[in-house]
Parts: sequence; structure tokens; C-alpha cells
Amino acid sequence: MRILTGIQPSGTPHIGNYFGAMRQVCNIQDKGETFIFLADYHSLTTSPDPEQLRKNVLELALNYLACGVDPQKAILFRQSDVPQVCELTWILNNVTPVGLLERAHSYKDKIAKGFAPNNGLFSYPVLMASDILIYQSNLVPVGRDQKQHLEITRDIAIKFNNQYGEIFTIPDELIPEEVAIVPGTDGQKMSKSYNNTIPIFGREKEIRKAIMNVVTDCKSLEEPKDPEHCNVVALYKLVATPEELEEMKARYRAGNYGYGHAKMALFEKLWAYFEPMRARRAELEQNLDYVWEVLRKGAERATEEAEKTMTRVRRAVGLR
Ligand code: ADP
Ligand code: TRP
Repeated sequence: MRILTGIQPSGTPHIGNYFGAMRQVCNIQDKGETFIFLADYHSLTTSPDPEQLRKNVLELALNYLACGVDPQKAILFRQSDVPQVCELTWILNNVTPVGLLERAHSYKDKIAKGFAPNNGLFSYPVLMASDILIYQSNLVPVGRDQKQHLEITRDIAIKFNNQYGEIFTIPDELIPEEVAIVPGTDGQKMSKSYNNTIPIFGREKEIRKAIMNVVTDCKSLEEPKDPEHCNVVALYKLVATPEELEEMKARYRAGNYGYGHAKMALFEKLWAYFEPMRARRAELEQNLDYVWEVLRKGAERATEEAEKTMTRVRRAVGLR
């Protein structure tokens, strides 16, 4: 079985990204032949600064390798290292009804957020379909917000296969059942747009400060506290064992345990949880040649697969 997923390069990762997305990607690599790519062509749809895009791509590769993507198991590559995917996009454009793209929520959302309605943004789902179809993927792990893009991919694949013969595998999405929303320091969903994040790879002082800023109610040290509605406990749950969690909850209920104590416990656990990843990242940072080599090898392997599909596609449509 072939599994494929794409990730858009987007700045400094926070623990919401880790528990909500990165961990899933790392977990899938044992489940089949896995392709993971850094979706830099897709990033162009929102016109990032070129220098920033270059930086973000390397950052993303470093972060995923540090957080557990194993190049012995998964094929990690940069999307634009396999430009055949753009060739396929052009071909698929010609079997894609405009109405199908006009109904895409993500396009409408982006426009509503004030992004320029360029054609790249509009045909984003066709490029995504090409990513998936060119590697003959069976299973595509994505967030719930990407479900419609998978439906569009299947529509395009079926239409192409009907017109030109059975070339593409029809893929399924894999949407994690319940990924809890990680709260930010202000209690809203943790997000870089809300300035409420705890970065995975921040310095000790920075992370300690972020944790000390987590909002709580203002009960005094002595008062018993409610562990079921507390952001500190919600974050502690992500990094503590079930026993440790129960112990903290019991202390909350008993009183004489302040939010400062809980935050200190949270910091210790969180810092220790990400320690191996920080160490791995520091190691990788000293060895960027290795990172580029992983991406190069990944691209080589991906190109091989993409070319196999493209040879058939070019023939089928009459380009060869
Ligand atoms: P941000 O909201 O910081 O801009 P992104 O939209 O770039 O984050 O999200 C990247 C991935 O991380 C997505 O798959 C998203 O579902 C996941 N993610 C982001 N924030 C959280 C959160 N607070 N809790 C759970 N998952 C999250
Ligand atoms: N659109 C996806 C996202 O924003 C990223 C992506 C691009 C992708 N191409 C893909 C995901 C192919 C899965 C398969 O999350």
C-alpha cells in the first residue's frame, strides 16, 4: 500500500502542530510505502517572500526529521524537485470542470481572508490531485479541512480514467478520528496567528515564560481547583503519563497546590518530552549536507515513480 502526504512549509512549529499533525505523519511511516513531501509549489499560491520560502522548506525538513520522520522508512522530498507534477497539473486541468473548483471551500476561505484571487490559488486542488495521482497513492493522511480536496482528486481521477483508460489509482483519505485541539497560552486554539504558541524548539527561557503565561482562573494557593477546566492540565495531559496526570488532578482537588506549581511541573515534563527532538535537531543543524542528501535521494526515488506514471499519461492523451 502506498501512503502519501504533503505538508506546507509554514514558519516555526508549535506543540499544537506537533500533537495535531507532525506526530501523525511520523506514525504513518511504518504502515506502508510512505511518501512525504514539502509542498513548496503550493506555498507559492499565497506569494511568500522568496527568501522566507527557501528558509521554511529547510526548516520543515529539519523539524520533521527531528520529530521522527525516518528516511530509512519514508521517502521525504521537496515537491518542486519533481516538476513532472506541474506537467500533470496542466494535463489534469483539461478534465477538471471549473464548477468543481468554484465550489472549493479553501479557495473561498482564502479570498475571504484577503488573499489575491490568483489562478494558482484557484487551481490549488488540481495541483494537489496531481501530487496524489502521480505517485499512484492509495491512502492520503490529511486534516479534516482537506477532505474536499480528496473528493476533488477522486472526481478528477475518475474522469481521466473514463476518458483515457485506467491510469490512476483512486485514493482514499485518512482523517484522524479525534485529534484534540491543543489550547494556546490564552486558552484559545494554539495557532501562530493568535500569538499564543509554545514553540517546540524554543529556548528554555522562552518556553518557561510561555508556560508561566498560560491563563488560569484566580483561585488562591489554598483553594481546591477544578482540573477538568484548566489549560495547564490540558497541556500537561499531552506530555505526562496517565498516572502523573491523575496525580496532578488529585492535587488540584485537594487544595494547597497553586497554579505556579502546576506550571512548573508542566514545564519540566514538556521540556523533557521534547529533549530528544531538540538534540536531534541540533545535530541535524550541524549537518545540513545530510538533510539535503535525504531530500535529494527522496526526490530521486519520487521522480522514478512520477516518470512511470507520466510515461503512461503522455501516451494516453496523445502527447507521445
Ligand atoms: P497554525 O494554526 O499555527 O497556523 P497550521 O494551520 O499551519 O497552524 O497547522 C498545521 C497543522 O497543525 C494542521 O494539520 C493543523 O490541524 C495542526 N494544528 C495547528 N494548531 C493546532 C492545535 N492548536 N491543535 C491541534 N492541531 C493543530
Ligand atoms: N493542501 C495540503 C494542506 O494544506 C497540503 C498538500 C498539498 C497535500 N498536496 C498534498 C496533502 C497532497 C496531501 C496530499 O494541508
